[in-house]
Parts: sequence; structure tokens; C-alpha cells
Amino acid sequence: MSELHIIGQKPLSGSVRVSGAKNACLPIMAASILTEGPSIIRDTPQIADVETLMAILRMLGVDCDWIEPHQMRLEPVDKDQCVCPYELGNEMRASICVLGPLLARRGCAVVPKPGGCIIGDRPVDLHIKGLCALGAKIYTENGYIFASADRLIGTRIYLGGPHGSTVLGTENVMMAATLAEGTTVIEHAACEPEIQDLADFLNACGARIRGAGTHTIVIEGVKKLTGTVHTVIPDRIEAGTFAAAAAITSGDVILENVRPVHLGAVLDVLEQMGVSLSIEGAQMRVRREGSLRPVDFSALPYPGIPTDMQPQLLALLSLADGTSVVTDAVHPERFAHVAELNKMGAHIVRQGAQAIVRGPAHLSGASIAAQDLRGGAALILAALAAEGVTRLSGIEHVDRGYERIEWRLSALGTDIIRVGAPAESAASREQLRRAAS
Ligand code: EPU
Repeated sequence: MSELHIIGQKPLSGSVRVSGAKNACLPIMAASILTEGPSIIRDTPQIADVETLMAILRMLGVDCDWIEPHQMRLEPVDKDQCVCPYELGNEMRASICVLGPLLARRGCAVVPKPGGCIIGDRPVDLHIKGLCALGAKIYTENGYIFASADRLIGTRIYLGGPHGSTVLGTENVMMAATLAEGTTVIEHAACEPEIQDLADFLNACGARIRGAGTHTIVIEGVKKLTGTVHTVIPDRIEAGTFAAAAAITSGDVILENVRPVHLGAVLDVLEQMGVSLSIEGAQMRVRREGSLRPVDFSALPYPGIPTDMQPQLLALLSLADGTSVVTDAVHPERFAHVAELNKMGAHIVRQGAQAIVRGPAHLSGASIAAQDLRGGAALILAALAAEGVTRLSGIEHVDRGYERIEWRLSALGTDIIRVGAPAESAASREQLRRAAS
């Protein structure tokens, strides 16, 4: 197992290009099941979750491969495959997003039922409710979801749940409805930008979707979808993570390929903390000169502060001059990073869905372990600010969603090395550093 070793307290400087969005790319890849003919997806991040979904899609009869770095070609070639293998599906919760497309295009789907994970219980009742409303028959047995439908018929579906709406649930129902008979109206739909990007992909394939990006999505079913060429939107969570990295090191970093409009709430919190931001088109400069101010915030569905930024902002707030209260209303259990941050010297007390952070902490390097993707990103941020060396294990979680994280941080001036990976020698590190800059 590899580890990241990071020597902290070096201000980041330079520029970094933000990747295409993981959470837009995954459902778009799954949506290729619905199409006839090839699609090309540009700006696809080369991350472990994308590789896992590629393996799943191949098992489902979709020909998919990299045709260039960050450019993927997908074409369904065998329409008889409906079973997502347990081991692969279980590796990644987002594998559930093949359920709607398989059902709509092939009339049946067998997909592992995702269990709870370290960020909390993550049910799929709303996905099932929505697909059943379209006419699917669904039951669960032996850890699988079995779904079938002779035909899907458009209807009105309310997708609100106890924590608001559901992103992947909205996407599953929206994808299935593209090939249903008649019109589907999804009420209380999630409105994250990744849903809009998926709808843009589907519409370019011939679907008729209106209102994606709002709480009411209207889908008029069509008979067939073709392939298309699509460029994935920039990853707003990766942008936020790099912005927090610049801020936590008192750095000065230019982020390329950002959509500031997708980052409103995150930018607001950073500015309240005293981080200076200047935006020009798709470029954003992030600087921090003085001390950080404490801020209370609650992670909420879009356009609120994303739960996927809660751990990184919590790490940043541990350095702020005073006490902050952070609530996660979307994933109330998503606090595995707190104990590890405290090991490094942070003062964070968890109370249910809240974390109370008393700053400013003096962080120092320690041996710590990432237990999930965004929590892992938060630990990297803390390591960047800590005195001495941090040894971070569990980086396979970080690799799920951040492409070549150590190369890119290294290009910004971080002293960081992956230990236990093949490309470990100083010479190859130098080569990689040059390639990344
Ligand atoms: N929920 C239900 N029933 C359902 C589905 C969800 O009660 O059927 C609840 C969940 O338990 C949770 C809330 O609704 O409390 C929101 O969950 P949602 O379904 O929106 O999450 P998701 O679609 O499974 C996506 C992202 C997550 C991100 C959440 C929230 C992808 C591939 N994943 O998950 O991203 O945290 O939305 O924004 O799009 C990440 O990238 O690190 C990540 C976990």
C-alpha cells in the first residue's frame, strides 16, 4: 500500500488546471448505455472511479477506452448484458447510476445494492421509488437490486426525501425517462450543476429534457438516442480543494478551468475567512496574506456549500482565529477526518451532525489515515500547513477522485512524495514534476 509523505509549511504558488468533474463524468459514462453509436467524452478525469466504471461498462457490453489522455470513447456493442458484477459495483457507490440506463435501454438490470459507507447510511429508496413510478418492477435479494420493465411510461414523480433530494437518484430517473413513453416530470429534483451537464449530454444525443439545474425537470421521452461529443464541466470540488490548499499555506495560486458560478457558496465562505479571490473568466487567483477568520456554515444541497467541501473547509477553519461551527445537513455522519485532524493538533469536537472547531491550532505532522475521498483531501490540506512530516495512508481513497494529486501539488511547490508506488525514484519524480508543470 502506498503512502503520501508531505513536508508542510511551504506556501503554494503557481497555477494548476482543474480537471473535468468526477460527479458529472460518471453518470455521463453510464448514460452511454442509452445510446446507439459512439460518444466521445472530453476532459474526462483519469481517476480510479472512472477506471472502475469503465470496467463495469465493459462487463455491460459497452466498448470504452481512452483515445487520448482525458478523452474517452464509449459505444454500446452488446445489448444483452444487464448484470453489474458485485465486486466491481461494490467498489464504488456511483455504480448505481447504471440502473436507470440499463432498465430503459435493455428492460432489465441487476446491480449491487450499495450499503452504508464511512460517510454514513446511503439508501437508494428514492431511486427505486422513481423508477417504479415509471413502471419498473424492482426487488432486492442477496445484496442485489433486480429491476425489470417491458416498457417505461412517463409520469409525475416527487423525489424529495428526509435530507432533501438526491443527486444520483435524480440522474437515474432522468436517464430512464429519456426513453420512456410520454412525459415525465421530476419534482423536488436535485439541481447540482452535474445534473445539468448530464442533461446537456443527453440532449445532444437527442433527448428532450428541460429544467435540469432547477427543482423541476421535464423529460419528453424519445424513441432513440445517438452518440455525441461532449466536454465535461470543470470539477467544482477539485477547484474548491485547490483554493483551500492555497489558503491553508498562505499561498498564491491561479486555478485554470473554473466555473465560478458553480462555486458561489464556497467562494463566499473563503472570502468571509479573509481569503482573497480574483476572478477573470475561467481563471481564479486565490491568495491569503493575513490570519483566517472563523465562520459558521452548514453544508446543504446546491447552491449551498457542498458536503463534498465540508472536510476541506473544516481543515482550513482549524487554523482560523476563533471558534467555528460546521454542520453537515446532507451527510450528517461525514466526520471520519475529525479524529485524524485532532491527531495533528486541531481542536475539533463533534456533536451529532456538527463539528465545533476551536482555532487557531498549531498543526504538526503525524502518521494518519484517510478513510474516504474528501476526508483524505482534508488531511492533505492539514499536512500542507503542518510543521514537519505527515505520513498519510489510505490514499487509494484520494485517488478515487483527484487525478495525480502529488504531481500537481508538487508543481505548486509542495514537498510531497508517494512512497510505495512504482514512480518513486528522485529522477522519475523530477520528470513527473516537469510533466505536471
Ligand atoms: N438519500 C436518501 N434516499 C435515497 C438517496 C439519498 O435518503 O434514495 C439521502 C442520502 O442518505 C443523503 C442525501 O439523501 O443524506 C443526499 O444523497 P444523494 O443521493 O444526493 O447522494 P448521491 O447522489 O449518492 C452524490 C455525489 C456525492 C455527494 C452527494 C451529495 C456522485 C457520484 N456522488 O451522491 O459525492 O456527496 O451527491 O451532494 O455524484 C464525493 O464526490 O465525494 C461524493 C460522495
